[in-house]
Amino acid sequence: MTHRIGIIGGDGIGPEVVTEALKVVDAAGVDYVPVAFDLGGARYLRDGEVLPDDDLEAVRTCDAVLLGAVGTPEVPPGVIERGLLLRLRFELDLYANVRPFVAGPSVLNEGVDMIVVRENTEGAYAGEGGFLRKGTAHEVATQGSVNTRHGVERCIRYAFELAADRPRRHVTLVHKTNVLTFAGDLWERTFLEVAAEHAEIETAYHHVDAACIYFVQDPGRYDVIVTDNLFGDILTDLGGAIAGGIGRAASANLNPDRTGPSLFEPVHGSAPDIAGTGAADPRAAIISAAMMLEFLGEHDAAARVRSAVEKSDGLTGSTSEIGDAIAGIIEA
Ligand code: IPM
Ligand code: MN
Repeated sequence: MTHRIGIIGGDGIGPEVVTEALKVVDAAGVDYVPVAFDLGGARYLRDGEVLPDDDLEAVRTCDAVLLGAVGTPEVPPGVIERGLLLRLRFELDLYANVRPFVAGPSVLNEGVDMIVVRENTEGAYAGEGGFLRKGTAHEVATQGSVNTRHGVERCIRYAFELAADRPRRHVTLVHKTNVLTFAGDLWERTFLEVAAEHAEIETAYHHVDAACIYFVQDPGRYDVIVTDNLFGDILTDLGGAIAGGIGRAASANLNPDRTGPSLFEPVHGSAPDIAGTGAADPRAAIISAAMMLEFLGEHDAAARVRSAVEKSDGLTGSTSEIGDAIAGIIEA
């Protein structure tokens, strides 16, 4: 089966790491048609377009999207992030942002094997709020957190379904119920109700600040974690740092109902400081491509990509040298 794969290289190191990810997908022998999109900071600076409706409609015709990174210092913060990446997450209803972290024992802890399921369409990212009296001494800025029963419940359900297929069968809710008493209450009640339907799954609750300590010192507590959009954003950078560095952290922005394409991207950003130097580790993008192959049903190819990345552990080199080496391991 031929897959239509949308390619959004984006900004900074994004296009560089996506090139290597596609090299590896090619090496795995997956049959696909690439559909390249010229989106990101460069496009915006050229013609003022962030995500034209035509491009969005073309993205919808794809089976999956592989994205490098977005955001560039020449464009004010938020323009590309909100207008491109977040708009894609919202418009394509990519409500589960799945971020796995796996690593052996280190000086910090006994090892990590967990998946964070980050709610990806609501919370502080929804864009609720605004200014009053902007630029005056009496300026007011509000930024609300939007939490709907529907949005919270479907994300929590996804986390439980994921945990049901894992050996430990454990889900931790991470929130801040002791301070965010409205949103936290909705999350906790929904979590308990969904948990009651899953007697086979063990559960826990941690406040997000405590979770930061456990991430570093005792991540063995975690199997599947479910959390809101902003907590998930912050925690998954920490997850990357404790599990081999952000250069290995991959993610899947899933529409589990498959009413449109899902989007796969490394957790790292566009890293403009190292763009063009060949210093970017393409492995986060390559593992994201493996997650994409899995979601597309290419289980064998995904497993071969993952195993090649594992075998490349310890290997250093430029972005393209690492990509070549991983592609070579697959072809060998
Ligand atoms: C991430 C990124 C994005 C986010 C940015 C680029 C908008 O940090 O995917 O974690 O905040 O979600
Ligand atoms: Mn982030």
